[in-house]
This record gives sequence, C-alpha cells and structure tokens, in this order.
Amino acid sequence: MSAATLTPYPVCPVGELPLGKRKIVTLKGRSIGVFNIGGRYFALQNRCPHRGAPVCEGRLGGFFTASEPYAPALEREGEILRCPWHGWEFDVTTGRSVCQPEKVRVKSYPAGVEPPPETARVEKYDVTESEGQVVVWIVTENVEKLKS
Ligand code: FES
Repeated sequence: MSAATLTPYPVCPVGELPLGKRKIVTLKGRSIGVFNIGGRYFALQNRCPHRGAPVCEGRLGGFFTASEPYAPALEREGEILRCPWHGWEFDVTTGRSVCQPEKVRVKSYPAGVEPPPETARVEKYDVTESEGQVVVWIVTENVEKLKS
C-alpha cells in the first residue's frame, strides 16, 4: 500500500523573498515560482498549460472591472500573473486561469514558512516568522508495507 505525504522543500530565508517579489527555484527536479503576495506565500509550477512557457517569469499585475460605464477599477494588483509568451493570465493565489478558471490552471503547491531547525540555534528564543525558512510542500510517495 502506498501513501502520499507532503514533504517541505526549503526555498530561502524569509528575508530573501520580500513583499511582491518572486523566486524561481528547482525543487525535486521541477521549476517552481514562489511568490510573496501580501505576506502570504504561493507556489506555481513554472510551466504554462498553453504551450509550456516559463509562466512564472511573466509580469505581475491586476485586472480591470467596471461596475458602470467609464468607471474602471483596477483590482487584485500584483496577484495576476501574465504568461510572457501569449498573455494568458493566472491567479497566483490559486493557479487558475482568469478567463477559464474551471478548465485551465497552472499546477500549484502549498507554500509557507517553517521555523529554522532547532539545532541551528545556540540558545532558545521564541522563533519569529522573520527567522523562518520559506518552504514549498511537494507530495512524495512513501511505500508502506502492511504487516500480514
Ligand atoms: S505559452 Fe503561456 S500563453 Fe501561450
């Protein structure tokens, strides 16, 4: 019997990924873009579902809405990723396409902050998030043998 487990893969110290920035890293053989959006972390596979472009290298922006004519409003600035090849747009927080959210998406991974390893500190203090490590959790397969 096999069971899927999530394994945290370190990306960088929190201080190296400030608000509004991204880092593209290779984790477990996959190119993954990690984004800091408003202090929360999101990770997307760096491959566009259209033709395979490195989507995480695209421009971050928002989109316009209008509740009435001639009253445009820019929403979700910094949360919409535009693919550099043909301009498809994706919500960084979900990986879903802006135009077809139910059908098209970039693969996403859980991301967040873990405290530094206990052994890295000589004395014990309360750990703040700024001391932590940005991590992306990726599913790994563990094979468990059942005792018969
Ligand atoms: S490869 Fe991304 S929009 Fe075409």
